[in-house]
Amino acid sequence: MSQNKQLSGISWDAFQALSLIEKGPYFQGPPPHTLIAQQFSRAGLEKLCKLATRVKRINKRREGANYLKTLLSDKRAMLYFAQPSSRTYLSFNAACQILGLDTMDVRDTKTSSEVKGESPEDTIRTFSSYVDMIIMRHPVGGFAERVAWMLAHTNREIPLLNAGSGADQHPTQALLDVYTLARSLKCVGGMDGKHIAFVGDLARGRTVRSLAWMLTLFEDMTLYFVAPEPLQIGQDILDLLDAAGTKYVVTQDFASVMPIADAIYMTRIQDEWDIAGQSSTTGSSAFCLGAEHMGILKDTAAILHPLPRREEISTDIDNDPRAMYWRQMRNGMWIRAALILTTFDRQHEVHTYYDDYKPVE
Ligand code: CP
Repeated sequence: MSQNKQLSGISWDAFQALSLIEKGPYFQGPPPHTLIAQQFSRAGLEKLCKLATRVKRINKRREGANYLKTLLSDKRAMLYFAQPSSRTYLSFNAACQILGLDTMDVRDTKTSSEVKGESPEDTIRTFSSYVDMIIMRHPVGGFAERVAWMLAHTNREIPLLNAGSGADQHPTQALLDVYTLARSLKCVGGMDGKHIAFVGDLARGRTVRSLAWMLTLFEDMTLYFVAPEPLQIGQDILDLLDAAGTKYVVTQDFASVMPIADAIYMTRIQDEWDIAGQSSTTGSSAFCLGAEHMGILKDTAAILHPLPRREEISTDIDNDPRAMYWRQMRNGMWIRAALILTTFDRQHEVHTYYDDYKPVE
């Protein structure tokens, strides 16, 4: 990653004109914000994954769990979720609890003073008066960037973690996806050179958009985008892959991809973004995984899903050893704990503790 740049030193118009890659250095801090997948480097991902595993191991023993709780007990976090969430909200909340942060939340804007006409920007600025970090999910794409820029122009710039914005970015989901993939593919030589398939609604799935870019950081990967034509991956993501030199195949033929995929990332139809009821007219039955497909997949294939699911993954395969989606969800708690520690620059203490006590897996 190139040298850090300060958000406070750039106008909003100039900032908006930057590409996603160019924006990355503005989020490195201090304080660091986590806003887009494109701000991460491979080295940064590997550090977070190592830290997540160490936090998980330390937390297994009561004395380790008690130690972790002391690390950020002087901090408070705001969980501002202006869109529904189960996993992201709960795993961030659990990650805060593991590290001793107190949390507050607004999960419904009808309960905040936004109903009195307060702007979302003023609402965030209000939160920043009371807490040390804001974790935010918001329906408006790019709003997290706007808020980070706004906070950088106040005297209380605090870290902002994007927990999902519009249909464009879900960077912390991509972190837990990379962590799960790395762990799942370790037994077959790791991430490099692997074939990863994305299946379902790829046009509006922010998890796919963030993860597809993050995978460009690995060597010699081939990505398969398997979707009905109206729900195919956006050209903007394909342009990013082209620029990164990452190979990809765009297809509707799931059957041909199943036997060659090292990992399959299933997604649901995102009909909450429908503007003309297009989901109901788009056939999706060919983009499902069930027990009848398990014999076709590689024995080592990993099946992921950001969840929630509908019918695209049959519950019949939940106990197949290749089904990683429940583990993937729990991994979200560990990688988010690692991210929060790194946000407050406390990761070194965890490594020292780990090296001293070497907790067993
Ligand atoms: N994967 C994900 O973002 O799930 P939630 O919407 O339940 O947070």
